[in-house]
Amino acid sequence: MLTSPSLNYFYNKLRMPTAITALTLTLSPFSLAELTQTTQLLTAAASETPPANQRLLWLRGEIARHDELYFKKNTPEISDAAYDALKRELVQLEQKPAPTSASIEATSRNTQEPVSPTGVHGFGDDRSGSFPTRTHGQRMLSLDKAYTESELRAFIARVEHKTGRTDLRWVVEPKFDGLAISVTYENGRLVRAVTRGDGNQGDDVTANACTIPALLNTLPHGAPDLVELRGEVFIDYPEFARLNAEREEAGEPPFATPRNLAAGTLKQHDPCEVAKRHLRIVFYGLGSWEGTTAAPDSQQALRSLIREWNLPYVESPAVAKTADEVWAAITQLGRHRTALGVPTDGTVVKVDDRAVQLELGASDEAPRWAIAYKYPPQQVATRLQKITLQVGRTGIITPVAELEPVVIGGTTISRASLYNADAIARRDLRLGDWVFVEKAGEIIPVVVGPDTSRRSAKVVPYPFPATCPECENKLVRHDGEATTWCVNKTCLGQRRKRIEHYASAEAAAIKGLGPNLITALVYGRKIITVADIYRLHREDIVITCGVSDLVAGQVMEQINESKKITLGRLMFGLSIPGVGKTAATEWAGRFTDLAQWSTALKEELSERNSMAAESVVVFFSRPENRNLVADLKKYGVNPLQNNGVSSNGAFAGKTLVLSGTLPTLTRAEATQRIVASGGRIASAVNTNTDWLVAGEGAGIKLTEARRLGIHILDETELLRRLAP
Ligand code: IVH
Repeated sequence: MLTSPSLNYFYNKLRMPTAITALTLTLSPFSLAELTQTTQLLTAAASETPPANQRLLWLRGEIARHDELYFKKNTPEISDAAYDALKRELVQLEQKPAPTSASIEATSRNTQEPVSPTGVHGFGDDRSGSFPTRTHGQRMLSLDKAYTESELRAFIARVEHKTGRTDLRWVVEPKFDGLAISVTYENGRLVRAVTRGDGNQGDDVTANACTIPALLNTLPHGAPDLVELRGEVFIDYPEFARLNAEREEAGEPPFATPRNLAAGTLKQHDPCEVAKRHLRIVFYGLGSWEGTTAAPDSQQALRSLIREWNLPYVESPAVAKTADEVWAAITQLGRHRTALGVPTDGTVVKVDDRAVQLELGASDEAPRWAIAYKYPPQQVATRLQKITLQVGRTGIITPVAELEPVVIGGTTISRASLYNADAIARRDLRLGDWVFVEKAGEIIPVVVGPDTSRRSAKVVPYPFPATCPECENKLVRHDGEATTWCVNKTCLGQRRKRIEHYASAEAAAIKGLGPNLITALVYGRKIITVADIYRLHREDIVITCGVSDLVAGQVMEQINESKKITLGRLMFGLSIPGVGKTAATEWAGRFTDLAQWSTALKEELSERNSMAAESVVVFFSRPENRNLVADLKKYGVNPLQNNGVSSNGAFAGKTLVLSGTLPTLTRAEATQRIVASGGRIASAVNTNTDWLVAGEGAGIKLTEARRLGIHILDETELLRRLAP
């Protein structure tokens, strides 16, 4: 499919901004050695360690590179554990010799403040350069980390030693795995939401954050003049699964982890797109506080206040009085954390008393009154039996590791995506290797790297196949791209996938036309495009698929039935890259048929750059696709959106734009009701807009509508006008 330069450009763009395409793991010999320290699983790389000063320079560069990948691009290449290990070693190498006096101070990296001559091993900078920058009232810090029980106990001992107190109360909370955010309320009104950035200044993502329903615009009476609430924006596991299923349907690679998805989403530029991915927020900390009332005097009091203000608070903190109790609470939270449905990567232990927090203060990077205990990643060794290549419906080739089945975190894993050729080469994975497997973001199986100490002398580097496993055509890789493509437009593998997608429950829903029949019909040259489905005869199915006349008859009935496909399902079923179910449903509400869809999107592109719209335009620019649509029409597949649409309804002939979250109606419901009353929904506010329907977090579109003097409706007014 990839032939024109413009399409190539499109694909490059498609994978750029938030499409977290691959959690490729870069394990150079040095970082492999690092992993050894963390996991105690690898033993072979010690001899490759360079002299300390070289190693130090290498670590700084490598950490800066991973910071860039994690914070700016949201496409980490190594697991959190491997990254943390790199940072730990850098801190150790940079530290001055440990003082001899206090013995407890020599046992943990947390006993000494990290010396940070370069600043490189700070905590990165998530600013993307495309949002306004705001300065935080109070610096946003990171947390020191403990990886073992003894490191955790050493931290507690150190705080007790410094304060001279053994009666401190400790609050133990889950460590949410998302993106840190600071939300400022002035005189009880939300004024901005800013990411951590470099700790001093972050990206102003207010419009995006305001798509989160739980993020209230106002605080109750009695709120301070100014308060900076600190928390985390995240995506929960059910939503992560839903969004990935949607991407799979659209033929796009899945997001790597909920954290990457949350971070990528918050940095999108269209709040409407952000609203489609249901971000969540939780508050756990305090920055600036100004006003006549005193700030909460403990972590527990802060939590109660957040709760009183009806904002999301930490639901399951434990309060402990001794190191033993803290450790018991950590173990307990660790046992139940998957049941929370929320991504967490550890536990945060905090001194409860605010006065003690202030007394202890902070280093450049982190407070001295809190620590994050990180749960060890569960890694398991297994054999890499085979690497198979999968051909997607758009021609992307995905190598998949076929593993000897192994249980991690309660589920059996036998396959893991290897993403692309580079990811295999960087890790030097070889067929027959023993490999370490872990779950990224607690979900996705990842092959971390080979256990070279167990490598047989016979195994050879993996030669990435040069030809497509389905059509045997030469595979193509464009300069600077990691993806390998099968560009053969007639590849039967791609065709099979496209037809399977069209016949699937979410598109034409042709029951009985499953993968087996489709494979037989495609390889038997009975079906080439989806339009050919409607050319089939009952005998074709009997002869080619070897099924009974009765079964073939039932399939034919279903095929006939599918001619009633709705416009949205057809748009989705055509396998146009980037066109997922949500986008298709929304478009179907705005356009009358496929032809109007393609023409209108061309116009829209000049106003607003949308990758999916560009993809649709590219699709319709190709003669074979125009023929396909003409064929479908010829066979009676030509859904029109106008069925049942009123020509004298409340919004007949009017153009409306939706923005923000409405109190009761979902976007799809609002679209459907407006369209049914004769209105048209557009995506951008301009002089052609008749009404803007604004909900919470309407943001930029609302500003634009006000500027242009466009009439604004809230949900109540919308429903009133829609009422018969
Ligand atoms: S308290 C002064 N509590 O972890 C630092 N942080 O790795 C205040 N995080 O930047 C942080 N859950 O984004 C705190 N329950 C929790 C947390 C939490 C997640 C994040 C936070 C922080 C990062 C440090």
